[in-house]
Amino acid sequence: MRRSKTAPRTRRKKAASAPKKSLSGCDLLSLQELTAAQITHLLKLAAQVKAQPKKFRRALEGKTLALLFEKPSLRTRATFQIGMEQLGGRALYLSPQEIGLGTRESVPDVARNLSRWVDGIMARVFAHQTVVELAEHASVPVINGLSDLVHPCQALGDYLTLREHKGKLAGLALAWVGDGNNVTHSLLTGAARLGVEMRVATPPGYEPNPAVVKAAQQAGGRVRLTHDPAEAVAGADAVYTDVWTSMGQEAEAETRRQLFRPYQVNGELMRRAKPQALFMHCLPAHRGEEVTDEVMESPNSVVFDQAENRLHIQKAILLTLMS
Ligand code: CP
Ligand code: NVA
Repeated sequence: MRRSKTAPRTRRKKAASAPKKSLSGCDLLSLQELTAAQITHLLKLAAQVKAQPKKFRRALEGKTLALLFEKPSLRTRATFQIGMEQLGGRALYLSPQEIGLGTRESVPDVARNLSRWVDGIMARVFAHQTVVELAEHASVPVINGLSDLVHPCQALGDYLTLREHKGKLAGLALAWVGDGNNVTHSLLTGAARLGVEMRVATPPGYEPNPAVVKAAQQAGGRVRLTHDPAEAVAGADAVYTDVWTSMGQEAEAETRRQLFRPYQVNGELMRRAKPQALFMHCLPAHRGEEVTDEVMESPNSVVFDQAENRLHIQKAILLTLMS
């Protein structure tokens, strides 16, 4: 990816539609674009990177990843920045105030500017369409670090965690309790490709996006939607929850707090799952709301393993897209 003053980058990215063997130079906007084999490869590479980090310490030498944020972050910012540094490259953090994505400058123009300086763009956005538009106009890979629709890096890290703890993925039952949100969507899409059964318990009106559910089912995924947390959790291998109010929905917080109360993951609910069932949460958690302290701190809680694995899976993603 060398630049010259006289020959600015005009490299075209590969079309996102047709399934490709290699993901080099591609965007990662959602798991929908990935095949089961590509996801399995990323999980395998992440395990290698985790086991032998030094082997990869110069793999992205001289490369820069722009980190574009419209929303706050701890894990995503820290893991992408540290990940790039551990691979020999660098990260450039650009705050919402600095960029004014779509206000100070149009999304296509931001994408075209950044493409002249950096080798990849990671973006956390409100509207999913923003990351789609960035990808359309950037000539370097664009990675979705969370949109209102999906959170693909989170789900990939979570499947790495689940596999580490359970030794396999196919045949596991994953229960989601709470809001049918961006994290649910990426877990559903991944589950369909990895042979994981997903049960999703939400209040009426807060079910996951029907198009995402349908696509997962059409891809062979086993999905059960319910409004009863006990039904979703019964005999599950892992129980997953997330905040009741996602970033951007703050005006609904009080209504949601009332409505979601029966969906709290507490000791009583966890006892309906398998005895060794894992507790999972993408974090940040609101203890006392969607999850109790008791469950967060229980021996079966793997929430900090999930946070750690964001680093390893994202290093695998960066190696795959940017090498
Ligand atoms: N789970 C996650 O994406 O965390 P941040 O919002 O802190 O990045
Ligand atoms: N669903 C949450 C996830 C945060 C990592 C949100 O979008 O705010």
